[in-house]
Order: sequence, then structure tokens, then C-alpha cells
Amino acid sequence: MNKIMITGATGKLGGLTIDHLLNSRGISASQIIALVRDKKKAKHLADKGIEIRVGSYDDLSSLNLAFEGVNKLLLISSAELNNVKRLQQNHNAVMAAKSAEVDHIFYVGLANPELRAYELEDVELATEHSIRAVNLPFTFIRNGTYLDEVTYDLNTAVKHGELLSSTNGKAFNFVLRKDLALANAIVLTEEGHQNKIYELVRSKLITYSDLASALSRITKKEISYKEVPNNITIKRLVESGVNAESAESLVNVFHKAIADEKFLFTSNDLEQLLGDQLTPLDQSIESLLE
Ligand SMILES: NC(=O)c1ccc[n+]([C@@H]2O[C@H](COP(=O)([O-])OP(=O)(O)OC[C@H]3O[C@@H](n4cnc5c(N)ncnc54)[C@H](OP(=O)(O)O)[C@@H]3O)[C@@H](O)[C@H]2O)c1
Repeated sequence: MNKIMITGATGKLGGLTIDHLLNSRGISASQIIALVRDKKKAKHLADKGIEIRVGSYDDLSSLNLAFEGVNKLLLISSAELNNVKRLQQNHNAVMAAKSAEVDHIFYVGLANPELRAYELEDVELATEHSIRAVNLPFTFIRNGTYLDEVTYDLNTAVKHGELLSSTNGKAFNFVLRKDLALANAIVLTEEGHQNKIYELVRSKLITYSDLASALSRITKKEISYKEVPNNITIKRLVESGVNAESAESLVNVFHKAIADEKFLFTSNDLEQLLGDQLTPLDQSIESLLE
């Protein structure tokens, strides 16, 4: 029986991938192994009958043990933002996958890495090159930014009847995390994805003005859109109950990258992988509302 290991299994993307494997891809719990750092955080997975193995990307020997007998490895990077540490973590995971002779590594990286929206992309590309260098059969699943990242903007807009941003009317290509997790589950369970690279972003770009129109349709209330300086958007988010750090990160990281044209890039890959299971825009937005 093919054993599929999901790393980052206690995280949101890993957890959703496991849900899709179990619920819509016909995979039994006995085929799945979850890599976790803390067994206590994985009780919900163990309760489903999933084998839990403990390992950290910071500890090569733990990965060497954990990857034993794994056929397909879904490698989801940690949330580490320090590139030196992130590079070492990913390097450990690739080396352990090679030592354990996994049959196929599925690496979740970032979409359109050449645009360097987050300054993490060189690590992601280096990881892809390491996988190629050690000659592991691969699938590179390059994830677009989660639409979920703008959840605070959407909910604040519904409260105020007005969506604010400083994105300069620029378009972007964000997709639902849940759809990216389904893409993981699909490529893990179908033939024909070996040595392929997928850029999982929207096939049609959207703008903040489009988000406001969608919110108006969904809530059946007029939600207008206004371009304002960063500090005004942050103030509005904080007044609506978003903590200051999250509000600043939303505006200074995501709005800025949109304004800097880091996401003017489309691909049909997600649409082709998911077919009619792709969540339409309005439904995606609705799923993020409180
Ligand atoms: N595309 C996007 O918009 C976007 C946005 C944010 C992040 N990301 C990237 O996508 C990944 C998955 O996203 P997510 O939303 O699922 O993030 P998440 O909920 O923060 O999950 C991260 C997972 O990585 C695990 N992890 C952290 N450090 C580790 C280590 N040293 N060794 C092994 N596992 C470790 C965490 O384990 P614990 O539960 O033990 O902490 C958790 O299971 C993130 O880690 C990040 O690299 C993408």
C-alpha cells in the first residue's frame, strides 16, 4: 500500500489536504502519515486512525527516521521567515527524503517565484533545485497567495459598508487555501503529475474594486470601494477589532505587494486540476465572511 506523508499536518494547509484525501479522494486513514512537531497537537488526526510521526525540519535525524517507508511525501515549508533558517530546514527535508528513498516528493512552493513578492522565493527555488539535483521524482506545486489573507479586509468592509485599500487599483491573483489543499490531494492521488510544475493562481485577475462588488452581491448591501493611504486602512482595521500586528502585516505586506504589481500573473493550472470543484469567486469570498 502506498504511504502518503503530509508534513505541516497540524497547520491549516496540511490539515485541509488530509480532509480532502479522506473525504473526496478515496484515501483511507491507514494510508496517511502525518509529520508533526508536537504529538499533542495531532490528537484529532490520531483519532481518525492516521499514523503520527514526530519530526522537525530543524532536526535532520528526526526526519531521517520519520520519512522511512514513505512513498509519496508532501513537503509543506514551515512558516519560518528567516531565509537562512528556511533554507536549512528545506535542505534537511530534501536530504532526508533522498536518504529514505521516497518514491516521489511533492513540494509546495510559491507561485511565480521570479517576481519575489515575499523575498522567500529564492529559498523556494533553491529547494526545487535541490530536489532536482538529488534526482528525486518531483511535482512542484507553486501556491499563489491565499485569498484567506484578505479576510480581515472583507469582514471590516461588511461592517462599515466600505472597503478600503492602498492597492492603487492594481490586480492580483489570490486563491482560496482550501482549493490549494484540494490541488495537493488531487496530484497526490492521480497519475501523470510526475516532474510537472504547477502555478496555482487565478486564471482571471481581480482588483479590490471587484472584491467590493462581490461583497455587495453577496450581502445584498452597497459596499463601496475607496483608495486611501496605508495608515487610514490600518486604523479602520484596528478600530474594527483586528490586532495591530495583523492589520499592519495585511497592509504593509499584501496591499503593498499588490500595488507593486507582484501578482499580475495568471495561470489555468488550478482550474485544470480542480475542474468544476474550483470554488467560484463569490463563493470563495462568502466562505471567508464571519
Ligand atoms: N500561499 C500563501 O499565501 C501562504 C501564506 C502563508 C504561509 N504560506 C506558506 O505555506 C505554508 C503552509 O501554510 P499554512 O497556512 O498551513 O501555515 P500554518 O497553519 O502556519 O502551518 C505551518 C505548519 O508548519 C509546521 N512547522 C513549522 N515549523 C516546523 C518545523 N521546524 N518542522 C516541521 N514542521 C514545522 C507547523 O507545525 P506546528 O503546528 O508545530 O507549528 C504547521 O503544521 C506555511 O508554512 C508557509 O510556508 C503560504
